[in-house]
Amino acid sequence: MSLLLDEVTLAAARLAEAGIESPRTDAELIAASVHRVRRGELHTVPDSAFDARFWADIARRAAREPLQHITGHAHFRYLELDVGPGVFVPRPETEVMTGWAIAALREADVAEPVVADLGTGSGAIALAIALEVPRARVHAVEADPLARAWAERNVARYALSAPYTAGRVMLHPGDFRDALGELDGTVDLVISNPPYIPVGMSVPPEVGEYDPPAALWGGADGLHAIRGLERTARRLLRPGGLVAVEHGAQQGSAVYWVFPEESGWRDTRNNKDLAGRDRFVTAVWSEPGA
Ligand SMILES: C[S@@+](CC[C@H](N)C(=O)[O-])C[C@H]1O[C@@H](n2cnc3c(N)ncnc32)[C@H](O)[C@@H]1O
Repeated sequence: MSLLLDEVTLAAARLAEAGIESPRTDAELIAASVHRVRRGELHTVPDSAFDARFWADIARRAAREPLQHITGHAHFRYLELDVGPGVFVPRPETEVMTGWAIAALREADVAEPVVADLGTGSGAIALAIALEVPRARVHAVEADPLARAWAERNVARYALSAPYTAGRVMLHPGDFRDALGELDGTVDLVISNPPYIPVGMSVPPEVGEYDPPAALWGGADGLHAIRGLERTARRLLRPGGLVAVEHGAQQGSAVYWVFPEESGWRDTRNNKDLAGRDRFVTAVWSEPGA
C-alpha cells in the first residue's frame, strides 16, 4: 500500500460520513486530479510526492461542492469539458439523448446536417455532435453570459485538439425562443436539455447551490421551457426534421403531449436513460395537415 492509497481510504470514509453517494470514486478522482495521474495509476505516486492539497479538495467535496468544480472538468461522451462556477455540469442522462441524436444524424441522408442545440451551457451536446458527426454544423444558443464563456472556452479548446470541429460549432447569444430566425424551416435536428425542475422541488446541495438557477427551474410544473422549445422547434425544423428534448424522470407522459399530432408532430416517442427511466422525448416535424 502507498501513502496516497492510505489517504484515499481515509478520505473516502470522510466523504461517506458527509453523505456523498460515491465516496471512494470521488476520493480517487480527486487524488488523481491533484497528482496529475490517471485514476488507475494512483499506486505509482511515490510517498514523497504526496500533495497536501488533496485534503483541501476533499474538504470542499465534503462540503458538497460538485466533484467537477473541484477537478475543473467533466467528461461527456468522448469530450473532456472545462466547467466551474456559472455553468451547468453535463450529466450522463444527456449523453444518452446525444447518442440518439448522433445515430439519427448518421443515418439521415443529409450531406451536411444543420443542428440547433438550445441552451448549450458548457457546449457539451453541440461539441459531442461536431466531434462525432464530422459534417454537421451545430448552432448552439445560450442566454446566460457566464455559461456562454465556458462554452466559448470549450469550443476553442476543441478547435485546437480536434481541428475538424473548428468553425462547425457556432455560438449564438440570446433566448432560444426567438433565436436563429435566419434558419427557420431549414434545421435537420433540434436538441435541448432545458431547465425542467418544477419550482419548489428539493434538490441536492451540489445542484441547488452550484448549478445556475437558469439551468434548473422550469416553472410551476417544470414544463415552461419545454413548451417554449416546442414552439421554437416547429419554427426551425424543415419537414421531416427531428426534435429531441430531455426531461425529468416523472415528466415522460406530460412532455409526450407537448408534441401532439394536431400541432404537426409525428412519431412522438418516450425514450429511456441508462437506468430505464423516461428521460427524453423525440418527434418528427411534418407540419399540420401533412
Ligand atoms: C440544463 S442546462 C443544459 C446545458 C447543456 N446543454 C448540458 O446538457 O449540459 C440548460 C441551459 O439552458 C440555458 N437556458 C435556459 N433557458 C434558456 C433560454 N430561454 N434561452 C437560451 N438559453 C437558455 C441555461 O442558461 C442553461 O445553460
